[in-house]
Amino acid sequence: MANRSHFNAGHIAMNSLKKAGKNHSSHRADDRPEKTFHSVLIKDCSEVLKQLPDNSIQLIVCDPPYNIQVAHWDQFPNYREWVAAWLKDAERVLSPTGNIAIFGGLQYQGEAGSGDLVTIISHMREHSNMLLANLIVWNYPQGMSAHRFFANRHEEIAWFGKTSSYYFDLDSVREPFDDATKAAYLKDKRLRPESVEKGKNPTNVWRISRLNGNSLERVGHPTQKPQTVIQRLVRALSFPGSTVLDFFAGTGITTRVAIEEGRHSIASDVDPGLRIYLDKQLENMRAIQAAGSSLFEAGPPPYVILEAQRFSEHPVFTPDCGARGRNDRTSLPGEENDSEETLEPVSEPVIVDRMTDLGLVSPTGKTPAASR
Ligand SMILES: C[S@@+](CC[C@H](N)C(=O)[O-])C[C@H]1O[C@@H](n2cnc3c(N)ncnc32)[C@H](O)[C@@H]1O
Repeated sequence: MANRSHFNAGHIAMNSLKKAGKNHSSHRADDRPEKTFHSVLIKDCSEVLKQLPDNSIQLIVCDPPYNIQVAHWDQFPNYREWVAAWLKDAERVLSPTGNIAIFGGLQYQGEAGSGDLVTIISHMREHSNMLLANLIVWNYPQGMSAHRFFANRHEEIAWFGKTSSYYFDLDSVREPFDDATKAAYLKDKRLRPESVEKGKNPTNVWRISRLNGNSLERVGHPTQKPQTVIQRLVRALSFPGSTVLDFFAGTGITTRVAIEEGRHSIASDVDPGLRIYLDKQLENMRAIQAAGSSLFEAGPPPYVILEAQRFSEHPVFTPDCGARGRNDRTSLPGEENDSEETLEPVSEPVIVDRMTDLGLVSPTGKTPAASR
């Protein structure tokens, strides 16, 4: 069967650009800012969102409570209503190339409360114009045993783009081929050596361990997410100098990753423990840096943690903040090749074509729900 990508307008256009030695308008050099700014606020999510300008945020890392009573903050009389309020504002503050990654499981409903990722996604189908780009399965080896059902070993991350021009930098998160595969591919004359060197698409199944009790990364929060997971999201879905928002910040892991990756950030949580957890995160970061991690060959970019009363000085309030995301950062590398997930002859299709192919957006760019 012919490869669908051969008929893909995005692929054809990218091929001609490549042949002409030109870059797509979305091509970026690594332009980390000289200094990044980070706000840490102890506030309810809705209060923080209210303060933020429209179209000002590139990525929202969103790991909400699920009403399963893991802690005092995890109890809601009407979960769906509560979600609806912050989701509406989250969509408003995202830049047109912006993304939101929502963590959750599909198995909480009926456990103790009334909310799970299905509740959120079904609400969005009816009430949001954002586009589901991927449902990422985060698969981990450890977990509880079970006797009445298969033991659960995954959680989901629903990644939505605000528009079809969502930003996606696949190259920043490719995985290297193992030595034997790489050697074989480099001998294969049909493949471009530079594509082989770039590595493979990590796919939408991420095999990453959860943090166990003894993990050095642990700072004491019951639902702390691993740095590797947050790092992959920040690298692929935001660009250096843009702002990443996490309004259920927990341990402040998003702030740490933003610092390391040259993004600005805003983290907030109702729990004042955020400040203490974040101090530990930054201590861990400095310890790894002092041990000579290759992550910081030139050291992490200098960063400033803004005092809460200086929130208005955050770059998110500068007039061009959202515009930068809008004008300079239209859709970036995705992929269309549906034969081998590992190697693409060309790696920069126009993403909306893929979405349309999958029936996720109508040609008008609306989700099926939104265009009804
Ligand atoms: C699942 S945890 C987030 C963990 C975080 N992703 C991490 O890896 O460290 C959810 C967090 O949301 C916070 N939270 C609950 N309700 C909130 C609200 N209305 N506004 C802001 N934060 C809230 C809780 O205090 C908790 O720290």
